[in-house]
Amino acid sequence: MNEKPAIIVTGASSGIGAYCARALKLDGWRVFATVRREQDRDGLEAEGIETFLMDYTDHASIHALVDEVLARTGGRIDALYNNGAYGQPGAVEDLSTDVLRLQFETNVFGWHELTRRVIPVMRARGTGRIVNCSSILGLVPFRWRGAYNASKFALEGLTITMMMELRGSGIEVSLIEPGPIRSEFMANCLKAVEAHIDLENTVHKVEYARQLKRLRGELSGAKGKLGPEAVYEVLRHALTARKPKPHYIVTKPAKRGVLLKRLLPSRLFYRIMGSLG
Ligand SMILES: NC(=O)c1ccc[n+]([C@@H]2O[C@H](COP(=O)([O-])OP(=O)(O)OC[C@H]3O[C@@H](n4cnc5c(N)ncnc54)[C@H](OP(=O)(O)O)[C@@H]3O)[C@@H](O)[C@H]2O)c1
Repeated sequence: MNEKPAIIVTGASSGIGAYCARALKLDGWRVFATVRREQDRDGLEAEGIETFLMDYTDHASIHALVDEVLARTGGRIDALYNNGAYGQPGAVEDLSTDVLRLQFETNVFGWHELTRRVIPVMRARGTGRIVNCSSILGLVPFRWRGAYNASKFALEGLTITMMMELRGSGIEVSLIEPGPIRSEFMANCLKAVEAHIDLENTVHKVEYARQLKRLRGELSGAKGKLGPEAVYEVLRHALTARKPKPHYIVTKPAKRGVLLKRLLPSRLFYRIMGSLG
């Protein structure tokens, strides 16, 4: 009988998810990792990670994932790491409602659907860990990222509420709030802005030119950027500590943002934030 604890890790094709799936496997977990493309499975499978095709916007794929994991483990899911997401750049006035909805379908509604499927399994066993990868942008807003800010703020609200509601169930819930981390995130933001924002017919045309340069890596990089191992360090704590923290803020810029929000009057804080990014 396989007694390794079982964890679902979403968005494991690149970046933080890919790193954490591998690190968890090395740390003795039985890892069920999700990707969206067939070709992204091979490398993970070769390392003994069980992979599934799952897209948060396709709820049938979420249910198929959970059914199959339960079949393979005999009804056990010890932990869920919701990680797969993307950033939709664009000024709030340039976002169509459909594009905003798409951002929420992936970053909020899909996570909610998967989490709701997993909670009864954990409740039945009286134990479990749920870790949601939010962002510093779920605590502190940046310009030109309204859809993403809103999705992560929404995730914060849902997750903290759930954390309080699950008290006494044996299920512990944590949020990870990273600042800049090396991954494919910026490249995927670039695809989303090019696909969904009219970059010509907008009062923000000049600003978008700058934002495109930033996303292409043509401006000086974000200060304080860390590798995905920085996220793994706190994920491991959230999964194994007797008393996991509600919030794990990762990187110095993220910690600075939270501190400034606490200390400064909001008008001054938003004026400073509005000059960044
Ligand atoms: N990198 C940062 O600076 C940073 C900072 C704060 C928070 N975060 C958060 O960290 C998490 C991981 O991002 P990352 O930096 O590792 O970026 P990444 O390299 O772009 O990885 C994102 C992962 O999410 C997957 N994904 C995207 N849309 C999905 C969907 N609809 N259903 C299922 N999976 C989907 C991607 O799959 P495909 O390859 O198929 O697109 C990919 O595997 C995200 O929650 C992000 O918001 C990142």
